[in-house]
Amino acid sequence: MRVKTRQSFSLFGILGFPLAHTLSPRMQEAAFEHLGIKAFYLVLEMRPSDFKFVMRRLRHFLIDGFNVTVPYKSAVIPYLDRVTEEARKIGAVNTVCRQGKRWVGANTDAEGFYRSLVHDGGFHPRRKDAVVFGAGGSARAVIYALAGHGARHILIANRHPARAEKIARDFRKVFKLCRFTAIKLTDPAIRKAVEQAPLIINATSAGLKPSDTPVFKASWIPPAKKGGRKLFYDLIYSPARTRFLKAAAGRGHRILNGVGMLVHQGALAQELWLKRPAPVAVMRRALAAALKEKDSRGKKNA
Ligand SMILES: NC(=O)c1ccc[n+]([C@@H]2O[C@H](COP(=O)([O-])OP(=O)(O)OC[C@H]3O[C@@H](n4cnc5c(N)ncnc54)[C@H](OP(=O)(O)O)[C@@H]3O)[C@@H](O)[C@H]2O)c1
Repeated sequence: MRVKTRQSFSLFGILGFPLAHTLSPRMQEAAFEHLGIKAFYLVLEMRPSDFKFVMRRLRHFLIDGFNVTVPYKSAVIPYLDRVTEEARKIGAVNTVCRQGKRWVGANTDAEGFYRSLVHDGGFHPRRKDAVVFGAGGSARAVIYALAGHGARHILIANRHPARAEKIARDFRKVFKLCRFTAIKLTDPAIRKAVEQAPLIINATSAGLKPSDTPVFKASWIPPAKKGGRKLFYDLIYSPARTRFLKAAAGRGHRILNGVGMLVHQGALAQELWLKRPAPVAVMRRALAAALKEKDSRGKKNA
């Protein structure tokens, strides 16, 4: 594999649409530079109408591996030779590695989320209850990680409840010791669940725009009790503080955004490609700098 020598260079990339604002190149390239590896990380932005055409030809390119993001995390699976068990159960691939002539798909979102939950959030899900808002690709990875690491009960609330019910059905077959409940985003039962659970996660895209209405009423968040602060985790990292996180912080709870998950999923992807530890701190610094620039550009344009 070409990544082993310093003389040649390697090619990686990210596949998705739209990709105008992706921060992955900054994070990955900072790591390659730090490790002294000659590698390029390409932005493979392609419209859904071009996806089939490009996928059929991609294996002939000299590309060593790539990340996959919205909206292709599931669509990419039929084009791969093998998918890891974890990615198959989650139903989504975010990292593809070349193994000889074969393409292997993996999912590093689940483990990336788990690492940030434990290392950045100081929270271990074993025997704990959680409320997860959302039932898209990232919610599936988050729920897989929570149940896989011993969560006791996960309440999944989604705008279209059928998607939440599908996750609950799929994962009940995989995780026998975890209880799953699926409900609609407007179900008043959410209030009680939020009151009781120590971990509440937003895995919807509601909040990407500062004007977005949070997934549930701020008044449903109970004030933090002494020694009983909850952790509110939003997978969104830009804006750094969504209204969901602001409301939770305002009531005295701990909050965490999706930066840590982004860093860890990227580091794990790189480790699959390069077969060596990724410089997580370097990647985190590069991402922080890129987010700062994005933020100041946003303020200038406002
Ligand atoms: N930090 C990270 O590394 C990381 C990684 C992956 C994703 N993310 C973030 O996670 C979020 C979800 O990503 P995804 O890949 O799971 O997307 P997705 O598969 O498209 O799913 C989107 C989810 O958001 C819900 N939703 C969208 N707009 C909503 C609204 N206005 N009100 C309530 N619910 C709404 C959808 O509900 P319906 O099913 O009812 O439509 C669905 O559950 C995005 O914000 C993304 O940026 C972060």
